[in-house]
Amino acid sequence: MASHGAPVTIGILFSTTGVTAVLERAQRQAAMLAVKQINSEGGLLGRELLLLDSDPASSPARSKTEAERLLDAGAEALFGCYMSSTRKAVLPVVEARNSLLFYPTLYEGFEYAPCCIYSGAAPNQNAGMLADYLTETHGDSYFFVGSNYVYPYESNRIMRDLLSNRGAKVVDEVYISLNPSDEEIAKVIATLKNAGPVVVFSTLVGDGAVRFYRAYDRAGFDRHAQPIASLTFGEPEIHALGNDAATGHIKAAPYFSVVDTAANKAFIHAYQDSFGPDSPVSAEAEAAYFQVRLFAEAVRRAGTTDRMSVVKALPTFSFEAPQGTVRVDAVTHHTHLWPRVAVVGEGGKFQIVREATEPVAPDPYLVELEKRPRDDASDAVYGRS
Ligand code: ACM
Repeated sequence: MASHGAPVTIGILFSTTGVTAVLERAQRQAAMLAVKQINSEGGLLGRELLLLDSDPASSPARSKTEAERLLDAGAEALFGCYMSSTRKAVLPVVEARNSLLFYPTLYEGFEYAPCCIYSGAAPNQNAGMLADYLTETHGDSYFFVGSNYVYPYESNRIMRDLLSNRGAKVVDEVYISLNPSDEEIAKVIATLKNAGPVVVFSTLVGDGAVRFYRAYDRAGFDRHAQPIASLTFGEPEIHALGNDAATGHIKAAPYFSVVDTAANKAFIHAYQDSFGPDSPVSAEAEAAYFQVRLFAEAVRRAGTTDRMSVVKALPTFSFEAPQGTVRVDAVTHHTHLWPRVAVVGEGGKFQIVREATEPVAPDPYLVELEKRPRDDASDAVYGRS
């Protein structure tokens, strides 16, 4: 590209080591792909877009020091974080430096930070549709298992309400370490064996989730009758688990790699061209990709990387993301997204069983989600198969 002046520099915070590296590697690669494409299209403001890398090692403390290092090195905005504990560690640094964090991961909601743009799902963009789907197709008994940190606690609180509003009950709620021992996993599996026919709602993350799903497979549960449902266990985790061990499990998210849009075909093609034909892409990776594209478009429109100018420009346009058209909401700083529910089919490939027919506005404080009568809610907004 023709470059005039110093590069526009951004920093990424995606772990290549630690418990969530299993899926953050895909997020990192997706962000890198966006930077590569932006540069091949001429860069930003006639300048190259330079990416500073890091490895926060799935650790909140390390995420904070890596964010400081990237901002000290001249990053004009940061992109990344998976676990809510890492986002919460990074945000005060970003705010103090008057910078921006683009956060591409589903999370528990109930947050607004002037310095944060949220491109992953808020609970009304995944958990609401999942609760509808589960209670309509899988009965009324649920067992919660989560990793021991903020997202699982808060997500379970919301899911408990959503299920109970639909007449379902939670028979047990247990937490295990982020890096669980084999004994911790075995104990939960034994409890589940005794719990009778329940659907598991898992807020386990990363490698701990992969190991739990593997133990679940080995314990011989009928995964079609007793699936594990989650908002997190996607294509990279299935790849790590082994495709045939995941059939029947359920995920709700705005994106699956099988989404049938022209933008997704181009995205998957470019991603696998860069990172290999077997490289799995997830909702969290897709958001890591399109949020860099959103930043680039906002910088072009604003003519500057100044934080307030970028924040003002972001809600003024829509972007054709792989999941469908997305747009940042000026009030909440969250993004209009496409809720979907999918079940893992043969060969580890998701099959979409329910999807929104239009983008759903973010409602991070759940002001609107449960207001409408149930029949209206599912028919008005959700397409179903
Ligand atoms: C998460 O911790 N937001 C998955």
